[in-house]
Amino acid sequence: MKTIRLILLKSLVLLLFVNCKTLPAEPAKATGVVAEKAMVVSAREEASAIGAAILKQGGNAFDAMVATEMALVVAYPFAGNVGGGGFMVYRKADGSIGALDYREKAPLSATKDMYLDSLGNVIPDMSTKGATAVGVPGTVAGIIEVHKKFGSLPLKDILAPVIALAENGVIVTEKQAARFEKVREVILEVNDSVTTFPVDSKAGDIVKYPALATTLSRIAEQGRDGFYKGETAKVLATFIQENGGFVTEEDLEQYQAQWREPVVFDYKDLHIISMSPPSSGGMTINQILKMMEPYDIAKFGHNSEKTVQLFVEAARRAYADRNYWLGDPDFVDIPMKELLSDFYIKERMANFSFDKATKSEDIHEGSIQMSESMETTHYSIVDAEGNAISVTTTLNGAYGSKLYCDELGFFLNNEMDDFSSKAGVPNMFGLVGAKANSIAPGKRMLSSMTPTIVEKDGKLWMVVGTPGGSTIITAVAQTILNGYEFNMSMQEAVDAPRFHHQWLPDVVIFEENGFSKEHKDNLKAKGYNINEDRTPIIGKVDAIRVLPDGTLEGGADHRGDDTAVGF
Ligand code: DON
Repeated sequence: MKTIRLILLKSLVLLLFVNCKTLPAEPAKATGVVAEKAMVVSAREEASAIGAAILKQGGNAFDAMVATEMALVVAYPFAGNVGGGGFMVYRKADGSIGALDYREKAPLSATKDMYLDSLGNVIPDMSTKGATAVGVPGTVAGIIEVHKKFGSLPLKDILAPVIALAENGVIVTEKQAARFEKVREVILEVNDSVTTFPVDSKAGDIVKYPALATTLSRIAEQGRDGFYKGETAKVLATFIQENGGFVTEEDLEQYQAQWREPVVFDYKDLHIISMSPPSSGGMTINQILKMMEPYDIAKFGHNSEKTVQLFVEAARRAYADRNYWLGDPDFVDIPMKELLSDFYIKERMANFSFDKATKSEDIHEGSIQMSESMETTHYSIVDAEGNAISVTTTLNGAYGSKLYCDELGFFLNNEMDDFSSKAGVPNMFGLVGAKANSIAPGKRMLSSMTPTIVEKDGKLWMVVGTPGGSTIITAVAQTILNGYEFNMSMQEAVDAPRFHHQWLPDVVIFEENGFSKEHKDNLKAKGYNINEDRTPIIGKVDAIRVLPDGTLEGGADHRGDDTAVGF
């Protein structure tokens, strides 16, 4: 009896401890765009507006997804794509959930060592630049699958405004022009200095994409076959192969998007729904947030020393697992249950202390460099019925492989670099991979994309996601914590300064503003390595929060041209 009482008492203490959160007096007031019924937040105003218009004319969130995804191809060629892939997580108004994987695949002729020379060294640029880097695109299969399963308007009607946008043209923004300057030379190099892509456009110019309009029209008329078979497939496969790449018509014809079970878990009184493998996003935020859960983070304060330490230590451990264990679930067995079990998570943090940094080499081995990139894109949608959609889509690098198909009017991805070309050698995000993410024909490369939906008290609360390569996972986790632990509005949660750690390299990266020298010095004194030369943008989050009265607040990241449009 005494033992039982003791166990009960212990459980109660644990329960109180785990759920411990300093509750705010009232939920944060909205500071972003507020809409009564429905909203789209994306990287470009044109894409948000087209998605919102589809919602307004009676389309559901899935119709708006198809429209927004394609509008981004036109208005945001930096990352919006038909030549890439992505992931979607949804939560319908009735509470049912699901996820779609339209990630690119390795071509059928791919081999484990395809990017290595005869000495076994990684050949520079081969998995990042030009046709050799291109994986089999999945985006068109993705939108068609979504439309087939959940769409309510005819595909032609959904794509009509997108085709009109390509024909009539899109304005080049200041930020877009500045970003383009950085990659202009590489685009010219990859395309032998001849391209119909408007490489000389300046801010304020209006750019038209007639070839893309024709490609989109074929999709509008023939659906999946308008891309993966016939004219487009023929032109695309020939173009890639003539440029030295591996994607064939057979690769295109065989490509299928795949419905997946999302990763779901509870964090205090939130219920989080996120992307499962082949994205590492859901599992890694699951591990990070669960490692942090026993602490009263709200009391520590936003971006305070303790919050940064706790987050960094959780991320260090979670990324080490990510890099070793995760890959395409159709090819490798991932010990998901074990990696996400309470016991494992607790064990993993057993050597954490607020007094001193853990060293990444004590978690695993290796030492590498990391380069930065910001070229994926995310959008969030909630429709008037309460259906919610969270989508992250990418070409991988800025304008992907930089290879632009003039005849079809779009860029091709360089997603093959997300595989581990050689165990232990970092990819362009500094991520070191292992066997689980090695290349095989028809396999999907591991991703960090983390489209996520959060419920609170059983109701839709937040739709969130971001670009940012390996920093995607930390940016999404911090945005959720900003809203929940630090009671920020959606817009504040998105705009707040972020930091990042990914196990290797063993450095904490801080955004430029919001972290004082004193703050960093204190962390250094505890043994944290801080990358002070580099203060890059970390993520570009586009999110929606449902306010207590049922209206919607958009969080459109001030770091880009991102815009919330609703009604
Ligand atoms: O799937 C991934 O994790 C990467 N290909 C994402 C690339 C990315 O986010 C680029 N920058 N924003």
